[in-house]
Amino acid sequence: MDDLVELERDLTAAVAAAADLEALERLRVAALGKKGTLTERMKTLGALDPDTRKAVGARLNAAKDALADAIAARRTALAEVALEAKLAAERIDVTLAPHPAQAGRIHPVSQVIDEITEIFADMGFAVAEGPDIEEDFYNFTALNMPPEHPARQMHDTFYLPARADGTQMVLRTHTSPVQIRTMLAGPPPHRVICPGRTFRLDSDQTHTPMFHQVEALVIDRAIHMGHLKGAIEHFARTFFEVPRVTMRFRPSYFPFTEPSAEVDIGCDRSGGTIRIGEGSDWLEIMGCGMVHPNVLRACNLDPDEWQGFAFGMGIDRIAMLKYGAPDLRAFFASDLRWLRHYGFSCLDVPTLAQGLSR
Ligand code: DAH
Repeated sequence: MDDLVELERDLTAAVAAAADLEALERLRVAALGKKGTLTERMKTLGALDPDTRKAVGARLNAAKDALADAIAARRTALAEVALEAKLAAERIDVTLAPHPAQAGRIHPVSQVIDEITEIFADMGFAVAEGPDIEEDFYNFTALNMPPEHPARQMHDTFYLPARADGTQMVLRTHTSPVQIRTMLAGPPPHRVICPGRTFRLDSDQTHTPMFHQVEALVIDRAIHMGHLKGAIEHFARTFFEVPRVTMRFRPSYFPFTEPSAEVDIGCDRSGGTIRIGEGSDWLEIMGCGMVHPNVLRACNLDPDEWQGFAFGMGIDRIAMLKYGAPDLRAFFASDLRWLRHYGFSCLDVPTLAQGLSR
């Protein structure tokens, strides 16, 4: 029986040292299988006298049970190790950013807003925002368009259902209400641009009911039209990335500016494409003017002390111009093929130092 103690010790040690599940299975077969060492021992019991057989038999059974338990325990431990290794090998870090080439695209409108912001930030402008759903007061009245003013008809306004007091909010028809919000929010001087969504009941190849504008407002002492022209010219040159632009200020009318003008920049339309900064054609890019005294008064500013200029520009149109997208409606169709073609990589951050569009 002494050798049985030794055999049991050897087998238990081998089980504990088994490196993987296959090695463990080989050990099990070698000890407990049909021709295993312990099984073979059982077969020798018949030759023993009854008393010895009983004692040795009990001893052998205990050894088999102990070994089976040891194998089961080792199997569980090895299975755990194998699972850990598999999980580690198949781990995916879902927080890892995808390669930019596979990632989503920045919409040309967002990219152009970032370009405009970069240019005006360099001139000391902050970005101001206002709500898409606006009070009539900010969208019209404070902008020198009291109720019944004919200029209100120029905007095909979306009205919200009337409130209990009969008043109606509107989807803002332009970004100009942010001028008012800016002037009422704090004392001058002000130097802001206000990009955002605007809405008018209008839809064809060059109009969508939702579109984008950027407003600019400068309020300070002794501001004059020279400042306005200088800022717009610098913007046009930098935005279109040309060394020179020709500009034309056509007298116009807006209720919130006096004098008012529309700005055209020189371009060349021959050959099917529009080239900015050359040629003898004109392209309208914005409305502008000196802030009307009534607008300043509506914002509790004394027009004898404070003056300013403002302009409003359509973002989608200049994005189409700069990046050659022909149909405005495609801008808002969410067609992934269009977005992959006209969109920008998230790493194409426009900076003046590195070139706006590179
Ligand atoms: N709000 C005008 C529009 O949507 C654009 C505009 C014109 C804005 C002249 C201005 C401005 O700030 O001075 O048609």
